[in-house]
Amino acid sequence: MDTLKVAIAGLGTVGAGLLKLLQDNHELLAARCGRPVEVTAVSARDRRRDRGVSIDGFAWYDDPVLMAREADADVLVELIGGSDGVAKAAVEAAIAAGRHVVTANKALLAIHGSALAKAAEATGVSLAYEAAVAGGIPIVKALREGLAGNDVTRVFGILNGTCNYILTEMRATGRAFDDVLAEAQDLGYAEADPSFDIDGVDAAHKLAILTSIAFGREVDFDGISTEGIRHITPLDIAYAEELGYRIKLLGIARKTEHGVEQRVHPCMVRRDHPIAHVEGVLNAVVAGGNFVGDTVYEGSGAGAGPTASAVMADLVDIACERYSPTFGIPAARLKKAETAALERHVGEYYLRLHVIDRFGVMADLTSVFRDERISLEAMLQRGRDPDEIVPVVFITHETDEASLRRALERISALDHVVEPPRMIRIEPL
Ligand code: HSE
Repeated sequence: MDTLKVAIAGLGTVGAGLLKLLQDNHELLAARCGRPVEVTAVSARDRRRDRGVSIDGFAWYDDPVLMAREADADVLVELIGGSDGVAKAAVEAAIAAGRHVVTANKALLAIHGSALAKAAEATGVSLAYEAAVAGGIPIVKALREGLAGNDVTRVFGILNGTCNYILTEMRATGRAFDDVLAEAQDLGYAEADPSFDIDGVDAAHKLAILTSIAFGREVDFDGISTEGIRHITPLDIAYAEELGYRIKLLGIARKTEHGVEQRVHPCMVRRDHPIAHVEGVLNAVVAGGNFVGDTVYEGSGAGAGPTASAVMADLVDIACERYSPTFGIPAARLKKAETAALERHVGEYYLRLHVIDRFGVMADLTSVFRDERISLEAMLQRGRDPDEIVPVVFITHETDEASLRRALERISALDHVVEPPRMIRIEPL
């Protein structure tokens, strides 16, 4: 077979990592692909930047869209990022020109994945994106091919390393969120604008993709209930520990009687669950099927090496002419996405309030729970001076989220409750 010619758009950390991987593993890749894989063209913002690898032998394009359209290449590797703009234009141009696409762009897939999958199928090219979800963990392949015999019941995981690092450090050191975030930015784990990570958007992009593969549905990023970790305090982390839980930001998609739930939010998970021990910047995904049971995957969710590894896996598939529909079944047969409303979620909840320690406060609080038919499993109160502000923690039995939200609204309005109550969902997993 002829050489597989590759054009790379975007030469940041991952692009440079891919060039290095192609160099270092050249021989074994040629053996696995049955033919040479060679970069023929590249495009990036700055031609002269030192990337630690030479780009001298490649055709240079200032415009990645022009490269996608015209370069002497069979595949476009898109490593620019962003759901719209030049990344989307380059991917669309490559597909229209009959070139395969490999991308690490979760935002693009989460928002435009269904339309792009249809376009790729119409022109008979691959749209591959192993690197878009959980970096080096081969979860796309695992779900789409490895678990193809199963009715997938749920998929969930730690999909954002920045948040997992921050939560791990907060627990280990007792430091506040802002302090640990600043350190993560210094270390290069968090972006200068960290909002996509810490507000759960990045995890939601990845979850939208996983949900689509797992349940054969069109991507539905807008249907995901998304909550980040800005409001997590050392106090809540300490209570979680005391109660036998760890706090993790999880993306969760599962079948319920009301349809498929998709949510990203901080969760309390039992300390003896494997996911509770995934620490620092690592990612982990659990996928459950009706025949296989639960399967667990853990590894690096970001960085040059792991992400290049995932991009390369897609290139090897293309070189070997192994083709899978983008989301596991032909795009035209993906179900319309209908995500179950979070108000219908049923679960246990951790609630933490700050109240002025006066007679009758507890009676007021418990009467709200009685009215909303919320049963309590546990209650903790520390401190006892009248007029002192003390934390009070409740753990509920299973209740529906709509009732819980009504209760929180009424509790917020009580005289002796001094700040909005904090709520963290408890996940039995
Ligand atoms: N910023 C992401 C994370 C990696 O912190 O996990 C790329 O999606």
